[in-house]
Amino acid sequence: MKYFIHTYGCQMNVHDSEKIAGILEGMGYVATSVQDEADIVVFNTCCIRETAEQKIYGHIGALKKVKMRNPDMIVVVCGCMSQQDGVAQKIRESYPFVDIILGTSNLNSLKDAVQDAKRRKHCVKVDFEQYAEEDFNQSRTSYPNAWVNINYGCNNFCTYCIVPYVRGRERSRPLSDIMTEVKTLLSEGYKEITLLGQNVNSYGHDLPDGEDFPTLLKNIGELPGKFRLRFMTSHPKDLSQEVIDVVAKYPNICNNIHLPVQSGSTEILKRMNRRYTRDDYLNLIQKIRQKLPNAGITTDIMVGFPGETEQDFLDTLDLVKQAKYSSAFCFIYSRRKGTPAYSMPDQIPYEVKRDRITRLLACQNEVTKEISAAMINNKYEVLVEGANNHYANTMCGRTESGRLVNFKCDESYVGQFVTVQIEKAKSATLWGRIVTEEE
Ligand code: 5AD
Ligand code: SF4
Repeated sequence: MKYFIHTYGCQMNVHDSEKIAGILEGMGYVATSVQDEADIVVFNTCCIRETAEQKIYGHIGALKKVKMRNPDMIVVVCGCMSQQDGVAQKIRESYPFVDIILGTSNLNSLKDAVQDAKRRKHCVKVDFEQYAEEDFNQSRTSYPNAWVNINYGCNNFCTYCIVPYVRGRERSRPLSDIMTEVKTLLSEGYKEITLLGQNVNSYGHDLPDGEDFPTLLKNIGELPGKFRLRFMTSHPKDLSQEVIDVVAKYPNICNNIHLPVQSGSTEILKRMNRRYTRDDYLNLIQKIRQKLPNAGITTDIMVGFPGETEQDFLDTLDLVKQAKYSSAFCFIYSRRKGTPAYSMPDQIPYEVKRDRITRLLACQNEVTKEISAAMINNKYEVLVEGANNHYANTMCGRTESGRLVNFKCDESYVGQFVTVQIEKAKSATLWGRIVTEEE
């Protein structure tokens, strides 16, 4: 019995797919890389932007023919999209060959649902109020890195964002559960732990014992052995000086902060309900740079939010130059039904959004180029992550600051820390060679 999982969207979904794989493997299924020969096909969906949603509907629709040839195939749709208002109903009507629809935090019902589907009962379970237990096996695919959820959901309600509606309110996992998972992963040989949450900095506010994010970082930072700790995503309104100090104090916590800005205009930030101003954000960047001069700071930016003027956009470009991000995920604003921004006046025409994203990408590209050029000849500790599939005998890995580097070596190095001297840089991509300590 074979399974195939389509994963769309963010790291949260990548990690959920590892949990889905673990559940299916526990039932005797094995992974296949050929969708059409699978006995169970899972769509782990994303709905953050309309383009993602359209692509997924296309892929689900394309499965109809395969399912007609193989009626015993079980088709599952889960993740954020199925949690949106009306979507479960739409899937049942338009794609009746889908057997199971699950929400974002009832993955632990998957096993029962598959058994029901085998008895030919269609099953719809969409419910995010249920607490997502982490007691099932996970089939991890990202060695030497391991993803670890610390909180689920989001309370921030940025006016453009669908996430709080599809992933529910913030729920923190007990600190002791997270510690047990992290210690197990380190004892299994994982070399990098990445803590995941929609807003990691508000971790613990709902826990009874005053546990908070800096406490969690300190507890993990103090664990013995050579490993790296990363975390994402940080909300600028909640990233405290204490967190910056903890990152500076513990050498195994990476100087790498993902700090989505979304816009460089205070007026737009206000309408996005981000609860910081342009100046607040730039001050925060300054605080980080003071304490962590080698930090790699990355961001998410959106263009074409309703009412964004040319001047608002120029403010974003200016902020990008000042912040000196090592990289930025740039998005065109996508109108999401059910969010406040959906019905805001002055929606921006597509051509204007297109033009702005092109200019934004060019601007960030220049910044990245500059940072990359300054890295040439320097040596960095890199954790070897895996093969670069485009070049023979080439592996890639990250510096502590999060920059991806390619270098020649074989697969036996995966999971090892090496020193790499940077030789050339092509904008975002760095190339180097492994050197010994003496060199
Ligand atoms: N349109 C475009 N981008 C969005 N994001 C969130 N919602 C939207 C939307 N409606 C982006 C934000 C967020 C990232 C994960 O996705 O930049 O930080
Ligand atoms: Fe969405 Fe804002 Fe929550 Fe991030 S913080 S998930 S952008 S609502």
